[in-house]
Amino acid sequence: MPVRGVGVDVIQVSRLVQSLARFGERMERRLFTAGELAYCRTHKDPLPHLAARFAAKEAASKALGTGMSHGVGWTQIEVLQPGGRVPELSFTGAALERFQALGATRSHLSLTHDGGIAIACVVIEDAP
Ligand SMILES: CC(C)(COP(=O)(O)OP(=O)(O)OC[C@H]1O[C@@H](n2cnc3c(N)ncnc32)[C@H](O)[C@@H]1OP(=O)(O)O)[C@@H](O)C(=O)NCCC(=O)NCCS
Repeated sequence: MPVRGVGVDVIQVSRLVQSLARFGERMERRLFTAGELAYCRTHKDPLPHLAARFAAKEAASKALGTGMSHGVGWTQIEVLQPGGRVPELSFTGAALERFQALGATRSHLSLTHDGGIAIACVVIEDAP
């Protein structure tokens, strides 16, 4: 498993709540895809799930080595939840270009949220 990048991020759920309260729907749409919002809204309290996805985007941007710069935007890094419970990452635009330039073909994502914080860990690799 040739690793091409790793990234980790932690966020206080209250910090995201403050940003969303301040900037409203426009911020929601800037940070999250329609699919991410729909998935999180299936939960009684969507906020810890949204915070975990925010952390996933920051962790993935670290794994790419760009942070949220070099044209890499929030919705270019999407957390998918296909069928089961294991989340997956999907890259588009500049994030996908960077992913491919690193020689990566596969990504792995783990999320957790408890006690008012959310954490995400990302590994990108060149899988055979
Ligand atoms: C990389 C990034 C995602 C880090 O975010 P952060 O939450 O400010 O910082 P964190 O505490 O999570 O991480 C800091 C560590 O990331 C690492 N890091 C910084 N830039 C990095 C990069 N381009 N690639 C990989 N790792 C990076 C550094 O080791 C840093 O630790 P240090 O400051 O002790 O050297 C940041 O570049 C970024 O783009 N943040 C987006 C901020 C933003 O737009 N917020 C508004 C949202 S509403």
